[in-house]
Parts: sequence; structure tokens; C-alpha cells
Amino acid sequence: MTLRAPVLGLEASCDETAAAVLAPDGRILAEVVLSQTAEHAKFGGVVPEIAARAHLAHLPGLARQVLAEAGVAPHELGGVAATSGPGLIGGLIVAASFGKGLALAHGLPFVAVNHLEGHALTATLPGAVASPVAFPYLLLLLSGGHCQCVAVEGVGQYRRLGTTLDDAVGEAFDKVAKLLGLPWPGGPALEQLAKAGDPTRFALPRPLLGRAGCDFSWSGLKTAVAHQVGKLGTLAEQDRADLAAGFQAAVAATLADRARHAAAMLPGATALVVAGGVAANLAVRAALSGTPLPLVAPPLRLCTDNAVMIAWAGIERLRRGLADPLDHAPRPRWPLDEMRAA
Ligand code: KG4
Ligand code: ZN
Repeated sequence: MTLRAPVLGLEASCDETAAAVLAPDGRILAEVVLSQTAEHAKFGGVVPEIAARAHLAHLPGLARQVLAEAGVAPHELGGVAATSGPGLIGGLIVAASFGKGLALAHGLPFVAVNHLEGHALTATLPGAVASPVAFPYLLLLLSGGHCQCVAVEGVGQYRRLGTTLDDAVGEAFDKVAKLLGLPWPGGPALEQLAKAGDPTRFALPRPLLGRAGCDFSWSGLKTAVAHQVGKLGTLAEQDRADLAAGFQAAVAATLADRARHAAAMLPGATALVVAGGVAANLAVRAALSGTPLPLVAPPLRLCTDNAVMIAWAGIERLRRGLADPLDHAPRPRWPLDEMRAA
């Protein structure tokens, strides 16, 4: 199907409220992301009820804002794409209901986008990376809510090669940061602290290192840090830095090992694409660039949660005639493997 008009993307599956308008060829006409970090920080993590209310308060205004910036009236859109899973149900209901309402009012096609498909297809968005990546490629999704490795073989064609057996890797960063007295979300602060640390001082485990497949596990590593913290009693500044550096080095080495295994599971892969907030970590990037595949990291604003990737996934689906009915129910759990193939 030829798509001739821009698409509105809506994202509200976790703690970012976002809207974007993309031209049918993927050019970004307008985008906005509103982070709720400040609202959740005092609770040390995302509070679903607060997130849902904030999405409800902000999403309509952000949608209006990007449409105005793009100079597109709602009836001129070629479709509305809204994140409909996986994620926190309150936010999913907000994005999906608002998207369906707009689609219904203006007679537009609606696409219920899988958030993970949004992350997966970002590397094919023209202009997102130096040269768009060709299928098949590996996606390593490293965020606060997700830690998985996916074979991306085409639009709608995904195979999960491995996932975490316990925490997401960003969650592990946040928990260890908390042990070291850093504020939530702790990943960036932990990376900063690690700069002054000696990664070799503490012998920390590298979970599942060398194990077949590419599953992940972070709780043993987190517990090992907690154990060291308990043993030290009061932490001197150097202790904190050394623990941060040791933890980060263990994560980076483990991720590189898992990625090497994943590469062997997808012969013919053209690249290793990283997404999610943890992809910002330079030690992680350095370790991942040591695998045989070219490492592709979209700019951070497209790596973390955003609506550009949702609009782009919507465009790819609409081009293939894959709109969804207005009674499509949001899915808090929605593995990528269960996508309809294009
Ligand atoms: O993709 P993302 O922005 O959103 C959600 O998961 O919702 O990822 C956020 C996660 C947090 O756990 C944060 O601590 C982690 O990514 N993170 C980092 C860094 N920047 C963000 N972890 C390690 N090093 C960083 N520089
Ligand atoms: Zn995400």
C-alpha cells in the first residue's frame, strides 16, 4: 500500500510521554519527549499510578504540539500509531485510547505498535544511523525494563534469542547505584563514579559467561556487590568508586560474551544494534565493539523511549497494509515473537 501522508506516533508505555509526526519516508517533522523522572525519583523507581496520570495529563497536549509544529491537521494524517504493549497498563490504555479516538474521529487507520518493534526498527529509519542497517541484524535491547537479544529478520519477523532470567540490566545498574548511595535512576551516576575506580579490586562474578545461548542474569552480580558493601561496613569514596567500576566491568564483559554467542546464532547478521538507556554507557559500548559484528548505536534520544520509533514502526506496518482494528486491546506482556509477520 502506498502511504502518502504523515503518521502520528504516540508513546506512553513507561515513564516517558512522547509524540512525533513522521513523513511517509521517515523524515522527522516534529517530535517531543516528556520525561517523568523527577516525579518518580523520590520513590526510587517508576510508580505506575503516577505514570498513568501524568500520561493522561500530558499526551493530548503533546500530540497537539507536534501536529502544530509539523503543520499537519489531524484529518491530513495517513494514520495514527500508538504503543499498545508491552509496558505499564495505565499508560498503554492512555496512548491506545487517545490514538483510537483520533483515528475514529478522522477516519484514519490505527496501528497498535509493539514498543519492542519500535526499538527493533529504529536502525532502519533513514537518518537515524549513518547508513540504515540491512536485515537480518541483532538487536540488543538494554533498558530499565528490558534486557533481551532479538534476531530482526524483517518487519514483523523477530526471534528472541535470549532474555534476562531476573532483572533488566538497567534495573541492575539502578539497584547497585542505590547500594552505593546514588540517586535513581542510577546508571549515569554509576558510570561517572566508576571513572575514579579500579575495576580489578573486587572479584565480581560474570553471570552466565561462556554459557550456551544468550540469556542474561544480573541478580547474582548485584548480590555480590551487596555482599561486598556489607563486608566493608562504611564505604570510603574509593570503595564506592572501585565497586562501581568492578560492577560496570562485569556487566560490560558479560554483555560482550552474550553478544558473541548471539552473533553465532544468527549467521549472516549485518550488525549488532544496541538500544535502551544502558546503550549510553561507554564501557558497555567499548566492550560490545569488540564483537565480530559492526556495532550500530542510534543517537541516544532514539535509543531511549520516544515516539519517533513508534511512528516509524507504524509507517512500516501501514505500508504493508497492517492496520489494526479499533477493538485491539493493549497488552502489558507482548513478546516480539508474537507479532504478525508482514
Ligand atoms: O531506555 P531507558 O531510558 O528507559 C526505560 O527503561 O524506561 O533506560 C533507562 C535505564 C535506567 O535503568 C538507567 O539507569 C539506565 O538505563 N542508564 C544507564 C546509563 N544511562 C541510563 N545505565 C548505565 N550507564 C549509563 N550511562
Ligand atoms: Zn523502551
